[in-house]
Amino acid sequence: MQCLNVDLGDRSYPIYIGSGLFEKPGLLASHIKGKQVCIVTDDTVAPLYLDALESALSGYRITRVILPTGEAFKNWTTLQQIFDALLTDRHDRRTTLIALGGGVIGDMTGFAAACYQRGVDFIQIPTTLLSQVDSSVGGKTGINHPAGKNMIGAFYQPQAVLIDTASLQTLPPREVSAGLAEIIKYGFIRDALFLTWLESNMPRLRALDPGAVTEAIERSCSIKAEVVAEDEREGGVRALLNFGHTFGHAIETHQGYGVWLHGEAVGAGMVMALDLSARMGWIGSDELARGKDIVASAGLPVTPPQSMLAADFRRLMAVDKKVLDGQLRLVLLKGLGDAIVTADFDTTALSDCLAMSPE
Ligand code: NAD
Ligand code: GLY
Repeated sequence: MQCLNVDLGDRSYPIYIGSGLFEKPGLLASHIKGKQVCIVTDDTVAPLYLDALESALSGYRITRVILPTGEAFKNWTTLQQIFDALLTDRHDRRTTLIALGGGVIGDMTGFAAACYQRGVDFIQIPTTLLSQVDSSVGGKTGINHPAGKNMIGAFYQPQAVLIDTASLQTLPPREVSAGLAEIIKYGFIRDALFLTWLESNMPRLRALDPGAVTEAIERSCSIKAEVVAEDEREGGVRALLNFGHTFGHAIETHQGYGVWLHGEAVGAGMVMALDLSARMGWIGSDELARGKDIVASAGLPVTPPQSMLAADFRRLMAVDKKVLDGQLRLVLLKGLGDAIVTADFDTTALSDCLAMSPE
């Protein structure tokens, strides 16, 4: 088992990475203060892993909340089910919420933990590749609003993150590709050598080769932990983790939550950000082509949905969380492995980039 640390002073926490972590006696218990826990999962993950987790928690009073699966349910109505269960079973302030599932479950459980009795402990047990390399680390929690992705939420850090790589074996290939989008993102923004490694190892990653997947998770989590320790609340460098996301969130909102997976939208969004960086003359056409090939090799889309007009992008990107004083800021590249967040891009270049989608 590998252990990384997210260094946030007295709110620091470990990220455990390994296979069969549920069965490690004492690992979970060492991060639980009280006698009561509430496991939150979805109706796809529950039949696969809930029994194993409950066995590891024998001795605790367990409440289970099984939510409907998918991005379309990342909303107030579903969140309320967590509060209903906590109150029905009289959970007090020493309770611990445990998120067992992908990023949707992790984001909602973390937000519920931030709000319940003004804040209780929670643990992340991410079961998708995307949540293991990104969403379970860093304390961004929340839900969607019909007008914008992740618009309601809180920064709230977990007590620990348990990444059991064995759980990936049941993940459908489309979800594996979605997770690869966030892994590729780390290479684009911060680590050109990692991009080269990804080019050589993409077939192994798509086949869920345990050695390759574990290495990709470790490298991704260590970059994320480093960035979060530097800038927990996204005053600066953390915004770079949103490379491709301004375009991607617009795609998800436009298509209807869950129609395009988050990672798919980020895949196409990263290619749009590469395209705009190339139009600005900040990266060469060879780098654009290379970046696009890496995204395509992960089985991800490299163009936005045909039905999406440039005007749709403009309207939806105007509610991005990086907009400041009405001004759109984007994460763009000055080279592969070198990102900036900037409002200083040419409006004609942006129009040409959005015209990858028909007017
Ligand atoms: P998800 O939670 O919807 O999971 C994807 C699908 O995989 C679901 O159908 C789920 O039931 C299923 N699943 C989960 N684990 C499985 C397993 N082991 N075997 C088989 N099926 C399994 O989606 P996701 O891609 O994990 O996460 C996307 C969400 O994460 C989005 O809402 C996005 O906004 C959010 N996100 C948050 C952050 C953050 O920093 N908080 C970062 C990136 C993404
Ligand atoms: N996924 C973006 C972040 O955690 O900041």
